[in-house]
Amino acid sequence: MAESMKGLHRTCRCGEVTKDQIGKEITLMGWVAKARNKGGIIFVDLRDRSGIMQLIFEPGEIDEEGFAKAGKLRSEFVIAVTGKLCEREGAVNENLSTGSMEVRVRTLRILAEAEVPPFPIEENSRTKDEVRLKYRYLDLRRPDLQRNLMLKSRVMQLTRRFFTEEGFLEIETPMLGKSTPEGARDYLVPSRIHPGAFYGLPQSPQLYKQLLMCSGYDRYIQIARCFRDEDLRADRQPEFTQIDMELSFVDVDDVIDVNERFLAYLFREVLGLEIALPIRRMTWQEARDRYGSDKPDLRFGMELVDVSDIVKDCGFAVFTSAIENGGSVRGIKAEGQGAMPRKKLDKLVEFAKGYGLKGLAYLAIGEDGARKCSFAKFMTDEQLDALAAGMGAKNGDLLLFAADKTKLVCDVLGALRLELAKQMELINKDEFCFVWITEFPLLEWSEEENRFTAMHHPFTMPMEEDLPLLDTDPGRVRAKAYDIVLNGNEIGGGSVRIHQDDIQERMFKELGFTQEAAYNQFGFLLDAFKYGVPPHAGLAYGLDRLVMLMAGVDSIRDVIAFPKVKDASCLMTQAPQTVSDLQLKELGLALVSGEEQ
Ligand code: AMO
Ligand code: AMP
Repeated sequence: MAESMKGLHRTCRCGEVTKDQIGKEITLMGWVAKARNKGGIIFVDLRDRSGIMQLIFEPGEIDEEGFAKAGKLRSEFVIAVTGKLCEREGAVNENLSTGSMEVRVRTLRILAEAEVPPFPIEENSRTKDEVRLKYRYLDLRRPDLQRNLMLKSRVMQLTRRFFTEEGFLEIETPMLGKSTPEGARDYLVPSRIHPGAFYGLPQSPQLYKQLLMCSGYDRYIQIARCFRDEDLRADRQPEFTQIDMELSFVDVDDVIDVNERFLAYLFREVLGLEIALPIRRMTWQEARDRYGSDKPDLRFGMELVDVSDIVKDCGFAVFTSAIENGGSVRGIKAEGQGAMPRKKLDKLVEFAKGYGLKGLAYLAIGEDGARKCSFAKFMTDEQLDALAAGMGAKNGDLLLFAADKTKLVCDVLGALRLELAKQMELINKDEFCFVWITEFPLLEWSEEENRFTAMHHPFTMPMEEDLPLLDTDPGRVRAKAYDIVLNGNEIGGGSVRIHQDDIQERMFKELGFTQEAAYNQFGFLLDAFKYGVPPHAGLAYGLDRLVMLMAGVDSIRDVIAFPKVKDASCLMTQAPQTVSDLQLKELGLALVSGEEQ
């Protein structure tokens, strides 16, 4: 039977007990992590969010009724105890901060009994994700998840503190608003009062924060919830949080400067790590050429090498035709992998094909210099020598080559580089390697839509020196856009915005917007710009991604209290669900059957 807390006050949390309290009487409350009855003496591990404290129940110290009650304790019962804090008599537990202490209990109350949980509440659970997510409230009791969420809370607090001290104002923007142009699909909310009309949940507060700059708020920050209806991956959720900011009267360097200091502050305060400033900067072009990615993991080398010049006149049509068609041939070198078994090589070829490449050419050099090469019959020995030399290969190395359109070649080799680094265990998990990627292309050609789309969003400022290209060669215009990348993850991104209407008009033209369409979508912003718009720029971090990396976990689910699974549903609440006919009617909505869709 559940007892009340009446008269008892918790003096501190389990993990916060310190040695100078030894000899004092303390009151703790929490969950039974483990109860062991050793006949005359009962040991209980008491757990709360701060840690674990060992409790001892021994006749003579606790009355008979209390001892009998202690005998009934089971895992996950919620209890309150009062007793004397003592040095531990038995073996000290080095794994616990409180491992050299114990509480000899005088009073016990059972505040709530508990059924046997469907899985053990323990660190590094091996229970299937689906089960843990169904009972997320139990999963969240596990110490590792509790640590992650506490870390996130601390990051949010420090973020507010840092930016407030830097003169930023925290301002909220609407959830029920107009859809924003971040490129994903919107989540829509039907309006009851305006049948047939919908709000869009924000993909980001982008337009609102630009309006706040027009309104003179100067430096804005918000820890903002964002919604994007896109395919989920380990680093993506339909609902996620940004640390979102916008600044007036600034250029690229100003945004980078304040954010570098922010990251250094955060990593120092939370992890005790010093980030060397300034953080390295790399242009988008360099990142793509050397690492095959716009979010390179710089914790290891294995850079891409363009060998087009070396192979352009060889007899291997796969290579020469790629070059003739405007593409290129590039390679990477896996050091010491020259003896890779055929099966493993075949897997790499399949991996490359998964990215849309037709094949993957390889040249393996044995320790004795003997070559195994998938295209040997098309090349002379001298040509192979030249290729190996161009790649800086030594005996024992494996060379992998991709030939096609340059974008595809870079994408494939960039992915292969990561895959090989994992297989070869080249990545130091304790290292934090930041890099700013700058000078992104302004526009991206969409084969599907047969037009240019904005790589970041339509309000991103072109680089001044590239402005003349906007009308002649738009694909080559670089943008004043920047991403901050950590260990191969894009943790944030932003840009300087266009604030001159003539440039904005040219931009809309390139994107294929008519004046009318632009006004339909962004009229309020364009109007606002007519009344005095300051030059402005901003950036947003994916808070969940940042915390995921700081916590050293592989999925953003592990830093979100109630995440969704791959099909965007919540296994605990069963959302999304159907609604009643009445609710639909009120919203003026009718469902169509599958075939009619
Ligand atoms: P962007 O679209 O690059 O920029 O988003 C900023 C950062 O948000 C994170 N992020 C996500 N995290 C989890 N799940 C998702 N589905 C998801 N999508 C994005 C990424 C990303 O770097 N308004 C602009 C910012 C600006 O220009 O100021 C924007 O939203 O870490
Ligand atoms: P094939 O003549 O089709 O047998 O190809 C010879 C070798 O070239 C094989 O190892 C293929 O995997 C490889 N190959 C095919 N297409 C490409 C490509 N686009 N890039 C690199 N290698 C390729």
